[in-house]
Amino acid sequence: MKRLTSALLGSALLMLAASPVHAGEKIFTAKKCNACHYTQGPAREKSIADQLAKKGPELWYAGSKFQQKWLQAWLQDPKPIRSLKYNSLTVNNPGNHPKLAAADAKSVTDFLMTLTSKSVKSGFIKPKKNPKGRLIFVKKMPCSGCHAFPGKKKFKGGRSGPSLVGAGKRLNPDWIFAYLKDTKEFKPVRSMPVFKGLLSEKNMKKVAQYVASFK
Ligand code: HEC
Ligand code: HEC
Repeated sequence: MKRLTSALLGSALLMLAASPVHAGEKIFTAKKCNACHYTQGPAREKSIADQLAKKGPELWYAGSKFQQKWLQAWLQDPKPIRSLKYNSLTVNNPGNHPKLAAADAKSVTDFLMTLTSKSVKSGFIKPKKNPKGRLIFVKKMPCSGCHAFPGKKKFKGGRSGPSLVGAGKRLNPDWIFAYLKDTKEFKPVRSMPVFKGLLSEKNMKKVAQYVASFK
């Protein structure tokens, strides 16, 4: 028994030694980012109450969702992404997200980029302003009713979903496709409508390419 206990203790210590806390994670915790964001997958929220208790979006797949360059810049100058306040359909986004100094933003970005999801296959989707993707986005499906997007002269579209203006710089094109395909895996509760069954995979790819081209 004693030998078993010490063997267990030994392997626990080894595991601790094998996974030192990332420098960026230490800053993430010290700055209390974890008061509003969780970083361990899979998705935790199971009910509307769970979703409403969240003070900010989940970050457990941040490394699959965001582009590194955008993330590092945004953490230093966090301009609103959602036109409305998180979890609200009426109140405007107060635009008061905490800011990080350059060095901290770099470390935290390095940490967040390590958080990835196996459901996101890389190298599939290349940004492309394709007419089919556009047709789906503005006509065939209600995407533009909920998302702002860059029109010819000004921004158009709805406000209930995050703005997709600049999505080509912010989001990983492969994540856009993965999110359309496996919506509930990333956002089991408050998500957008599930398009599986309404859009073929081929058309999901087309619309993902189109969204990834938004400037
Ligand atoms: C008081 C709660 C709160 C704290 C503290 C907070 N955030 Fe946020 N965070 C939010 C909200 C709300 C949003 C959505 C903002 C928007 O859409 O404009 C957000 C968005 C983000 C996003 C983009 C996520 C997405 O899916 O759009 C990242 C990355 C992020 N925060 C990182 C951080 C980091 C790093 C810290 C610590 C320095 C931090 N946050 C502290 C509430 C918070
Ligand atoms: C009924 C409104 C609605 C419709 C229709 C809709 N969405 Fe969304 N979408 C949302 C909401 C709400 C979210 C964010 C969920 C969250 O963060 O909690 C979202 C998130 C997204 C995101 C991720 C944005 C981010 O920064 O997190 C992308 C990309 C996206 N939608 C693309 C699309 C496409 C493409 C279509 C059409 C095929 C579409 N959406 C249709 C409401 C909608």
